[in-house]
Amino acid sequence: MIKVGIVGGTGYTGVELLRLLAVHPDVQLTAITSRKEDGLPVADMFPSLRGVVDLAFSSPDKADLTQCDVVFFATPHGVAMAQAPALLAAGVKVIDLAADFRLKDQATFEKWYKIPHTAPELIEEAVYGLPELNRDDIKGARLIANPGCYPTTMQLGFVPLLKAGLVDAGNLIADCKSGVSGAGRKAEIGTLFSESSDNFKAYGVHGHRHTPETSAQLARYTEQKVGLIFTPHLVPMIRGMHATLYARLNKDIDDAALQALFEDTYKDSAFVDVMPFGSHPETRSTRGSNMLRLALHRPEGGNTVVILVVQDNLVKGASGQAVQCMNLMFGLDETTGLKQIALLP
Ligand SMILES: NC(=O)c1ccc[n+]([C@@H]2O[C@H](COP(=O)([O-])OP(=O)(O)OC[C@H]3O[C@@H](n4cnc5c(N)ncnc54)[C@H](OP(=O)(O)O)[C@@H]3O)[C@@H](O)[C@H]2O)c1
Repeated sequence: MIKVGIVGGTGYTGVELLRLLAVHPDVQLTAITSRKEDGLPVADMFPSLRGVVDLAFSSPDKADLTQCDVVFFATPHGVAMAQAPALLAAGVKVIDLAADFRLKDQATFEKWYKIPHTAPELIEEAVYGLPELNRDDIKGARLIANPGCYPTTMQLGFVPLLKAGLVDAGNLIADCKSGVSGAGRKAEIGTLFSESSDNFKAYGVHGHRHTPETSAQLARYTEQKVGLIFTPHLVPMIRGMHATLYARLNKDIDDAALQALFEDTYKDSAFVDVMPFGSHPETRSTRGSNMLRLALHRPEGGNTVVILVVQDNLVKGASGQAVQCMNLMFGLDETTGLKQIALLP
């Protein structure tokens, strides 16, 4: 059994990790931390876990994380980079759900996250945890930088086109929407029910942290200079993310060949569903599951490809993807413990 520790067990990605890992056949939950809830049984905070998780939260300083085989950091940025060096030195693998190791350029990280990087020696080693594009590297990794939720949708939508050299990489547009759980469980005015329900707004239009992450990753798949305009929106739902991606074709290709390109790219990826050309994926078709669904459109047969991508921000956008990476790192089938079907309605 893989002994698992979770730092940040009281947050939304933390409880999502608990939901998935509590029934994972190869995992033994070993330590779950919270600074505020030391000693509280996990099931007292999350009754959904009564009868399946019998551990209590412990403060990070009391939890002996070195007894684990792998530790997930479901924490704000800055936490994993402080603890990863000691854990790795003790032979523990680390999967960070935050941004500490996502950007290879330290200055770019420090500019966008406004904190100094305290473990720059690990940046190069960290493997970007997007299995559909990086499977082999993840298998051999000790340290995973789990992708951001929006970047997962943008990369899985744009990369097949960039790799095939079919689109103008300098003019990519991503119009994306996230449910409110994307902001985490901490109290904030903007995520109060009265502020975020019955409301719809864009944010971060002048620049969002997920733009440099996505642009840097997309640049790995094209010789062209990447230009990405990314506009995130907050929608009044709890879970779910919808990305509408636009790319300009620079070569002649028919709809069937476009569709075949995506189907071929993801033929061995159990968690990417390439839907029929021209269909309209819905967020609720992924709710609670690790599935990302996408569909291609070509409005009026013109030279703009529109890719619609949906996922559950807390599963494929965060904790499910992290478990997918863990499976690969420990030589398991990538889908182990992740075969839940979306909840509908
Ligand atoms: N929500 C999403 O959809 C989503 C998607 C992709 C990635 N992410 C990323 O995943 C990470 C966690 O997100 P979340 O939404 O789960 O956040 P959250 O709901 O706000 O939870 C944060 C957790 O971190 C713990 N924590 C906070 N500061 C800490 C510190 N200094 N040391 C140790 N533990 C600390 C908190 O517990 P205590 O205060 O009790 O210690 C809490 O359990 C973030 O980096 C986020 O950007 C989130």
